Amino acid sequence: MASQFSLLILILFLFNLASIHVTGDQIMLEDGYMVTTVLDGHKLNINPHAVQLRSSDIVVLDSSHSVFYTLPFPISQASVMVKRLSGEGKTGYIDGEPGLARFNKPKSFAVDLRGNVYVADQQNHAVRKISNSGVTSTIVGNYSQTGRQDGPGKTATFSSDFEVLFVPQICALLISDHGNQLLRQIDLKPEDCVIGSQSALGAVKFWVLGLALSCLLGIVMGIATRPYVIPHTGRLQTPSFQQDMEALPNQSGESSTDELLRRQKRNC
Ligand SMILES: *[C@@H]1O[C@H](CO)[C@@H](O)[C@H](O)[C@H]1NC(C)=O
Repeated sequence: MASQFSLLILILFLFNLASIHVTGDQIMLEDGYMVTTVLDGHKLNINPHAVQLRSSDIVVLDSSHSVFYTLPFPISQASVMVKRLSGEGKTGYIDGEPGLARFNKPKSFAVDLRGNVYVADQQNHAVRKISNSGVTSTIVGNYSQTGRQDGPGKTATFSSDFEVLFVPQICALLISDHGNQLLRQIDLKPEDCVIGSQSALGAVKFWVLGLALSCLLGIVMGIATRPYVIPHTGRLQTPSFQQDMEALPNQSGESSTDELLRRQKRNC
């Protein structure tokens, strides 16, 4: 009886083990996610390797052709307007205009708050910058030498295996230099960390214009409503207005609209 019972326990235990083995795989599929293609590189001869969002476009790196492209964001599947950001289409090391610049099969890049692109150009052992106007330059690294030397410009050396990340909080790039087993930092210029400087300037102009207009409107309104809201001036008053908008004179005998008008002028 006891041995039958322990046999039953054993069978149950083995069954349990078996069921864990069968159903206990490590894949848990969560519902509610879906894949769609938004850009087919076959049609455009583009092979996306890395992608980053800029403010109003998306930067796509075609590593095999050493070319950077931009697409408008959000991506419209109906008509994808792909533009070349930089890269002639051949591997090499040339700075300059979008159609002239050459990279050597880079695999990683980052975008700052102004829309400049920083390229970890591993095979050229350099960090390159594609400015928001499209001109490519080298910011650090020495083409003719790999190494782990810190310092400015060409004195800095890198391995031929590193990646780049933009960190706005410290206005810097972080480099994960796999080849040297180092995490390194490149401080950027403060203006690279100001959100879209050109559009910001536009916003400031717009704001100043708005303020000026509201001041002007305030003064005009003040002057226009003044006769109706000062009961003791003895001017003609509209009775209905007098009830609703009666303004009490303050200690100096001014009505609150006078005070408002003065404040409005002072603010302007
Ligand atoms: C870059 O590397 C070359 C080759 O090793 C070296 O001669 C040159 O001095 C380096 N440039 C700088 C600025 O360090």
